[in-house]
Amino acid sequence: MTSPLLPGPSDRAAAFGLTIEKLDELFETLPNMPIGPRLSRDEIAARLSEFNFDRASGLELSVTAAIDLLRDGIVHSAHPRCFGLFNPTPAFHGVLGELIAAAFNPQLAVWSHAPAAVEIEKHVIRQIAARFGWVDPDACGHFATGGAEANLTAVVVALTRAFPAYGDNGVASLSRQPVLYASADSHVAWFKIAHLTGIGRDAVRLVATSGDGRLDPVALETAIDTDLAAGRAPFMVVATAGTTNAGMIDPLTECASVAERRDLWLHVDAAWGGAVVCSDRLKPILSGIERGHSITVDAHKWFSAPMGAGMFLCRDPELLARPFRVAATYMPSRNALDDPYLNSVQWSRRFIGLKLFLSLASVGWKGHALAIEGQITIAELLRRRLNDERWRVLNDSPLGVICFILDTQSGDIDGIVAGVQNEQTCWISAAEFEGRRVIRACITSFRTRRDDVEALIAALERARIRSNADPSFRR
Ligand SMILES: Cc1ncc(COP(=O)(O)O)c(C=O)c1O
Repeated sequence: MTSPLLPGPSDRAAAFGLTIEKLDELFETLPNMPIGPRLSRDEIAARLSEFNFDRASGLELSVTAAIDLLRDGIVHSAHPRCFGLFNPTPAFHGVLGELIAAAFNPQLAVWSHAPAAVEIEKHVIRQIAARFGWVDPDACGHFATGGAEANLTAVVVALTRAFPAYGDNGVASLSRQPVLYASADSHVAWFKIAHLTGIGRDAVRLVATSGDGRLDPVALETAIDTDLAAGRAPFMVVATAGTTNAGMIDPLTECASVAERRDLWLHVDAAWGGAVVCSDRLKPILSGIERGHSITVDAHKWFSAPMGAGMFLCRDPELLARPFRVAATYMPSRNALDDPYLNSVQWSRRFIGLKLFLSLASVGWKGHALAIEGQITIAELLRRRLNDERWRVLNDSPLGVICFILDTQSGDIDGIVAGVQNEQTCWISAAEFEGRRVIRACITSFRTRRDDVEALIAALERARIRSNADPSFRR
């Protein structure tokens, strides 16, 4: 007897056919579609009210409704004119990876339950670690939901290393206040992580930048000295390789030297910028990263994997397993070096790594390098075009993020950003760079071309004119 949860072969074929037809249409038509949501909250609610679950609507209607809702009701971060927040156009291989992982639904908590899947993930992690210059065969790590989870793991591991009593007796048992250091332009989730780990938000020192969005190593050393003199306990330095606002890379070598002199854990948050490791030409930008004790790199940023897919890399497998040790008699095995539930935050674990494995296996480092180098070329073009027109670029990122203002230095930044977003042809955002409100445009799609850059320049000009004429237009 068939279950309502597994339609028969002909219904499955019809549903696969319909889904693929509609998604393929999306791939073709996306570049010409409005970029933002076209449905209001009420319109979304009205469409959803068709599905009250007292009645079964059937697969065809449900799939069609879901795809149409997404088509009309989201910011299309996959759009080539989305100059957005690091959410990429997903690689086609990754989309297939999601489907395949869901169909098999392997449980990656323990090695013995899904040896092939666990080994595929380990293989990807080891290859990426080696590319970062970690020749140590012990280098390990795991896939995470994203950069925030990977960074949380970094703090837990660094605390465990620095304070042997932390795991069993908690922060309250420590005689000195633990402190971690990250640049003033680092990702703000460090505060959430400090909250969650119990060290408290005040334990995060935001170290001054050198005026160019990069952490100032002299200020770092001074901050550490000040805390030591005050009886606090520095335990971790975070260097960011690709800041969220401006794509700047902290001086990794200098950060490593400071951390080594003070025997502090060095974590490199390369959530976005880490993917340049694919390119032989660009990877020297990350020089010094190999001196990190741990690294965060997101597959769902510049590796163009569908969300969510982060990675946490660590040089010390025994240390990585320490915070996650637990004795669960009902689990099929208990090998901390093999079983992901014993060396990561998650327990039941989705097969996150397949999507990255498929794209790397299919197109190699070279294919990914081509995508990233192409996006950097587009970013350079956009930088030139902005400087040609009436804009002034403020940051000097070697990656694909551009922060700019009007060359008159005044102007309603938020109004211009809202004006571009409201037009629905391009998507940009507002950010802060070195204390100034700026417009932020990031190349996140390997589909972005020269004409998309010209479309953005034109949209900016229209928004500028409108914001001058009517400063209230963004409402
Ligand atoms: C530098 C950096 N670190 C960490 C994160 C958090 O990553 P995720 O959104 O994958 O959790 C981001 C997100 O943009 C980021 O830019």
